[in-house]
Amino acid sequence: MKNIVILISGAGSNMAAIAEAAQRQDWASQFGARIGAVISNRPDAPGLQWAWQHGIATAVVDHRTFDSREAFDAALADAVDAHQPTLVVLAGFMRVLTAPFVARFAGRMLNIHPSLLPAFPGLHTHQRAIEAGCRFAGASVHWVTEALDGGPIVDQVVVPIFDDDTAPSLAARVQTQEHVLYPRAISRVLPALTVPAWAEAKDEAA
Ligand code: GAR
Repeated sequence: MKNIVILISGAGSNMAAIAEAAQRQDWASQFGARIGAVISNRPDAPGLQWAWQHGIATAVVDHRTFDSREAFDAALADAVDAHQPTLVVLAGFMRVLTAPFVARFAGRMLNIHPSLLPAFPGLHTHQRAIEAGCRFAGASVHWVTEALDGGPIVDQVVVPIFDDDTAPSLAARVQTQEHVLYPRAISRVLPALTVPAWAEAKDEAA
């Protein structure tokens, strides 16, 4: 099985959209894929409870209990690897990852960013798009590389910006579309990803 491990920090609405699409579209038969686990850096992330209630394995690696970013990322990488991921999905995971973490999951880690990349990487994307006078905003799913929000784009969605938009109203419009975009992007990359041989062997033994 191709295990998808989802990393979250908060509400987890994208995680829920992905898990629901996996069930509705039967990713197990279509792609031999399943949601293996949801991992959060915040013990109080509401998305964790949703995952637990839906029978998905959960784990917490609390960044506040580590002395350095490197130590946190090393523990997080071990927690992710414990679920033998074919694909790692960052879904509102609000920590900048170190180079060793990114290298460990290179070519098999996606992120969603709430802008039409390469425009507006980083924070406060909606406010910045409104202030710049943009008529369109959106979201991008991209492969994670060392460049912040800079990896190759897999898929995007576009929404209009209206004259009376505020950052929250625009964020809500973008987020509704993120829930369509992220499952679509994942279904697009899954067929080409292969299960590592050592994980196949473990699957058979189970
Ligand atoms: C999403 O809108 C996502 O695009 C954004 O956080 C939100 C998480 O919502 N991600 C970033 O800003 C990453 N830089 P969710 O927890 O409900 O999925």
